[in-house]
Amino acid sequence: MRYLVTGGAGFIGSHIVDQLVQRGQEVVVLDDLSAGKEANLAGVRDKIDFHIGSITDLAAVQSACKGVQYVIHLAARTSVPRSVLNPLETNHVNIDGMLNVLVAARDAQVRRFVFAASSAAYGETPTLPKVESMPAQPISPYGLTKYVGELYAQVFGRVYGLENACLRYFNVFGPRQDPSSQYSGVLSRFMLAVIEGQAPVVFGDGEQSRDFTYVENIVDETLRACEAPGASGLVFNGGTGARITLNHVLKLLEQITGKTIKPKYDAPRNGDIRDSQADVSLAGRILGYEPRVLFEEGLKRTWDWYKQAYAKM
Ligand code: UD1
Repeated sequence: MRYLVTGGAGFIGSHIVDQLVQRGQEVVVLDDLSAGKEANLAGVRDKIDFHIGSITDLAAVQSACKGVQYVIHLAARTSVPRSVLNPLETNHVNIDGMLNVLVAARDAQVRRFVFAASSAAYGETPTLPKVESMPAQPISPYGLTKYVGELYAQVFGRVYGLENACLRYFNVFGPRQDPSSQYSGVLSRFMLAVIEGQAPVVFGDGEQSRDFTYVENIVDETLRACEAPGASGLVFNGGTGARITLNHVLKLLEQITGKTIKPKYDAPRNGDIRDSQADVSLAGRILGYEPRVLFEEGLKRTWDWYKQAYAKM
């Protein structure tokens, strides 16, 4: 089978590409390298068809879609605060860009379109854990664009018969997550701070919680969503079913790294949700998904990777 992975040079995308190549599948990557890096694909570069281009360019997407059976759509602006600062940019990439990918996938008559949606769609719904049947109440432009993406995928299913599945990823972390920007995921920021001997910055009181999900689980769930019968038209949570506060993460990091960590507390971020935790029973039933790498094990593996990749020589 031939798979198109948009955003395939990114953190999550490159892990999906690795796994597809390992399974002997053909892979096309479309990535504009705005967040992704060619280095993430170093191990598979000569085995894939790599297109450098943006999903906002319809011709580039159409070219990447040729002869493809499955589209895994990950390319996006992924930061909540960046979307608060620049909603037009996030909207342009995450909605206009996604629409290009849907149109190209429809025209290429792919078997299924799998979309990296986000738990940010739940926003401030108070109940935990989050179940897919709850109404979406996004509280950031980013969360809204991810929710609109789900609706678009489903409409393409109803109107054009394009099979689709949406996965609401919950705070994915692991090797290759880029820590270099102020918009990077919190665990990558914490790890870099520890390596550099700086104080990790905590926005708010540190009691906010997330269902931090090791990337290997998400790769497994995403590939299941491509093929599982009965998955089309559905939205699935992609998490572990647990949640942990940032303060607790820092305690665990002290144990794992053997270093004393003194965080700096700063003002909470605009658009931040407070708590997040996935109910993954639907994904279990329909996709046969269960999280195999739990948080602490994932944190250890991730620390080992950062130590090696970022430690000063
Ligand atoms: C993250 C993802 C988003 C995904 C969503 C799914 C990133 C950059 N964002 O959003 O793409 O759709 O999960 O749930 O991966 N924080 C600090 N210090 C820092 C950085 C962040 O305290 O240096 C705090 C934030 O204020 C927030 C929490 O950590 O309360 C998580 O932030 P972040 O890693 O940016 O993720 P989300 O906003 O949850």
